[in-house]
Amino acid sequence: MLTAGVASADETNIAQFQASLEQTGLVQSVVAWKLAPEQYPQSSAAIPDVVLLELTRDADAPLSLAAHLHRLRPSVCIIACSSAQQPTPELLMRAMRSGVREILPQPIDPELLHAALERLMKEHGVAESAVEKLIVVVGAKGGSGATTVAVNLAVQIARQSGKRTALFDLARPLGQAWLQLGVQPRFSVRNAIDELERLDGHLLGGFLTAHESGLQLLAGTSHAEEWQYISAPGLVRLANVAQSNFDHVVLDLGSFYSSDWAPLFRLARNVVLTAEADVPGLWALERHLKTLSGFGIAQDKVRVVVNRWHRSDDEAVKVFEKKSKQPVFARLPNDFLQVSDAVNRGAPLSRNHNDPLVTKYRSIAAQLAGLPAVNQSKQTGMFTRFALKR
Ligand SMILES: Nc1ncnc2c1ncn2[C@@H]1O[C@H](COP(=O)(O)OP(=O)(O)OP(=O)(O)O)[C@@H](O)[C@H]1O
Ligand SMILES: [Mg+2]
Repeated sequence: MLTAGVASADETNIAQFQASLEQTGLVQSVVAWKLAPEQYPQSSAAIPDVVLLELTRDADAPLSLAAHLHRLRPSVCIIACSSAQQPTPELLMRAMRSGVREILPQPIDPELLHAALERLMKEHGVAESAVEKLIVVVGAKGGSGATTVAVNLAVQIARQSGKRTALFDLARPLGQAWLQLGVQPRFSVRNAIDELERLDGHLLGGFLTAHESGLQLLAGTSHAEEWQYISAPGLVRLANVAQSNFDHVVLDLGSFYSSDWAPLFRLARNVVLTAEADVPGLWALERHLKTLSGFGIAQDKVRVVVNRWHRSDDEAVKVFEKKSKQPVFARLPNDFLQVSDAVNRGAPLSRNHNDPLVTKYRSIAAQLAGLPAVNQSKQTGMFTRFALKR
């Protein structure tokens, strides 16, 4: 991860530069400067690894800042951003003499910026990414419990960690997480994607809906056709902004994705695959495992969760584990009455700690979020209370 700075006389451009940097997922902090000499940083320690500097028609002010930064820290990578069609050779020469390393056209192309930062990281021997705050939840097939698992995991992580936790509802065609949380979102993922050019942590915060657990929800789409405007690369940029601003981010992906979503999966710390232990569920599970492996997702990042589990499922689960060589991470007991009551009330599962399903949720949330272990001993002997599958 790199440290970064942005400099422009214009507030809007400062915000856009900050957003572009956050969206790369390669920077850990961004400082901003106006171009006034009295605001120049005065020590080399205050100068980040990379600076995006707006190169205006009157280049004196930006180039004098560039020269100042370069003098204090010669290794700083200054990238000038210019909206001019073609900077003149004279301007290019002056920029180079002032320490500017690269010139990017404005508006900034996210791929060009990403490539420039990657080059810089290689040069400096900086490790690519230490963030990995994303937990992606996928249903092996429709109705496998992806939304129920994503919502209850996210709520448990928010409650137990007390840290900044977000749930992004990316389920297609419609996002229903808000119904399970009982909140009334005013904005959705569509709004965040529409504002991508200037989406930084601050703007993203305005699109979120708070839940009383502390969880922040980015609601899903309420019209199926909105997905026409949401691209996989856009979601990667959104996820990078989320990772820069939250400690834990849970994504409900539903059960629908394609190979252009692979980069989003690759950002994840864990991919949680939920399935019921019946023949179609376990078959679909195996197919997803193969696809994820084809995306380059290491097997040890995948967490298989058998949902609506019954003791009688264990035979089939064992066969699956042997065949796929993928251990089942957790079994969530079947409790139709409790879950459907919670879903219909618009409230996360909340029975006390003796409840087997809630206990299990607390435990897997702690494991996935790297929190202290939750005592599960009270769970034993309670299985007879599960409602029958419907
Ligand atoms: N542990 C459980 N015990 C019993 N029923 C459950 C459990 N978890 C989820 N369900 C029920 O399973 C059904 C599907 O759950 P959910 O909507 O979370 O699945 P999904 O994978 O998100 O579905 P979709 O494909 O429609 O997005 C719901 O009726 C829910 O109440
Ligand atoms: Mg769902």
